[in-house]
Amino acid sequence: MGTFDGQCAIVTGASGLLGFAAARRLAEAGARVVMADCHATAETAAKIADLGLEAFPHVVDVIDERSIALLVEAVVDRFGRIDILVNCAGIANTLVPAPFEAIPPEQWHRLYDVNVVGMIRACAAVSCHMRKARSGRIINLASGLAYKASVGLIHYIATKGAVISVTRALASEFAPDNVLVNAVSPGFTSPDNAINFDELVERFPAASPANRLIKRHAEPADVANVIAFLASADAGFMTGQVIAADGGSVFI
Ligand SMILES: NC(=O)c1ccc[n+]([C@@H]2O[C@H](COP(=O)([O-])OP(=O)(O)OC[C@H]3O[C@@H](n4cnc5c(N)ncnc54)[C@H](O)[C@@H]3O)[C@@H](O)[C@H]2O)c1
Repeated sequence: MGTFDGQCAIVTGASGLLGFAAARRLAEAGARVVMADCHATAETAAKIADLGLEAFPHVVDVIDERSIALLVEAVVDRFGRIDILVNCAGIANTLVPAPFEAIPPEQWHRLYDVNVVGMIRACAAVSCHMRKARSGRIINLASGLAYKASVGLIHYIATKGAVISVTRALASEFAPDNVLVNAVSPGFTSPDNAINFDELVERFPAASPANRLIKRHAEPADVANVIAFLASADAGFMTGQVIAADGGSVFI
């Protein structure tokens, strides 16, 4: 019997590195997982369905309120419930570090629209269903950079600080209805293939195992395991928390 048997999860950003790992982890533990992303949803859901697990693709754009409303409507129509929302949709890996003065206002707006307001739109769309059911888990993706900062990514760092604040504020709002809201703060986690690691470390020193206490490559599963914990009954007395899944890099 799986931890999430009978439950339904929505994972946004499920075609990405951490969203896919989270979706797979939840599906392996018995959840029916709706894999929501603005691209490649059919291919990524097929990879999980091919393992004999329950994954369902849905194209969504988190900057479009109507698109999110349609996602939630489709999930409720099909499954009659939403137990878990994991907000992994975000702009992160494609960012090129730039000095503060060189970041144009439209990039700030775009990043906030996806990383912060996109997450808020998804929380708002599921909240009435979860609150009515008096049960639900929301897991947001923060970042170790919100604590440590890093030159060249001020707009990204600011969005992740906002993710932490919104997580705490929503935890307070939703607690009376037993909807628990927590965040995971990953360290730098990259695919273990298809990257020039030396070049990556030059651009993002935080990517180097030398800059964390546990000196190994960070796997997407390291983050997905914490997401699964926060979605599980074992985390039933936790809300408004941010757990770092970063090999201890926040201490260095
Ligand atoms: N990978 C890391 O090292 C790391 C570290 C700290 C925090 N995070 C955070 O974790 C989350 C996931 O990161 P990742 O590494 O999987 O990134 P990723 O780039 O691999 O995946 C992000 C996914 O979000 C989707 N997306 C982007 N804009 C969207 C939109 N408007 N609507 C719907 N989907 C959209 C993309 O299509 C992509 O599939 C992000 O919020 C990121 O900031 C990642």
